[in-house]
Amino acid sequence: MKIVGICGSPREGNTEWMLKKFLEEAACAGAETDLILLRNRDIRGCNGCLKCEVGGVEREGNCTVGDDMQHIYRKLLDADALVLGTPVYFSMLSGLLKNWMDRTCPIWPKLKSKPIAGIAVAEEGIGKAVDNLKTYASICNMRWVGSVTALAKNPGQVSKDKRVERKLRQLARRLVDVLKQ
Ligand SMILES: Cc1cc2nc3c(=O)[nH]c(=O)nc-3n(C[C@H](O)[C@H](O)[C@H](O)COP(=O)(O)O)c2cc1C
Repeated sequence: MKIVGICGSPREGNTEWMLKKFLEEAACAGAETDLILLRNRDIRGCNGCLKCEVGGVEREGNCTVGDDMQHIYRKLLDADALVLGTPVYFSMLSGLLKNWMDRTCPIWPKLKSKPIAGIAVAEEGIGKAVDNLKTYASICNMRWVGSVTALAKNPGQVSKDKRVERKLRQLARRLVDVLKQ
């Protein structure tokens, strides 16, 4: 049971804390976990060449952009489930996470049926951010397991919210249960 977390915040803040809590609980429930901090990776923008689409849904997973995504593709294909985390920016997902989504073009058909959970944190309102994550999951034909949202502004703030921590642990357990089925 391998669960890979993707963190779409450009700082060591609330999203990262939430993902770590989630993955900590998943590990307690028996999963192998990995957290990819997009902020620390060299992930350039999709150049839109669409060469990755050759082969249709059976595409080989090749991308013409040579950067850290080459390594991340292997991790995503190897994962049994994903958890995506984003700070809310202008009521949507962050640019870092959207850029990562665009760059999954070479492999997205192979994510089909993998369970996926979402995490979003905003100062005042989640807006469309969870919908954005669900849309990605739906296009990839992944299995949406649920989401946890929180309100917090500065790094460290969300860690004081015991309700959020409880919800994260519950969602992590649910994801592991789905994997065990
Ligand atoms: C560029 C930018 C846009 C933001 N837009 C919103 C927003 O639309 N609504 C909101 O409630 N908070 C917004 N925020 C606040 C962040 O969502 C909030 O600080 C969150 O805790 C950041 O998560 P992080 O600590 O994981 O980076 C914005 C922050 C930034 C930097």
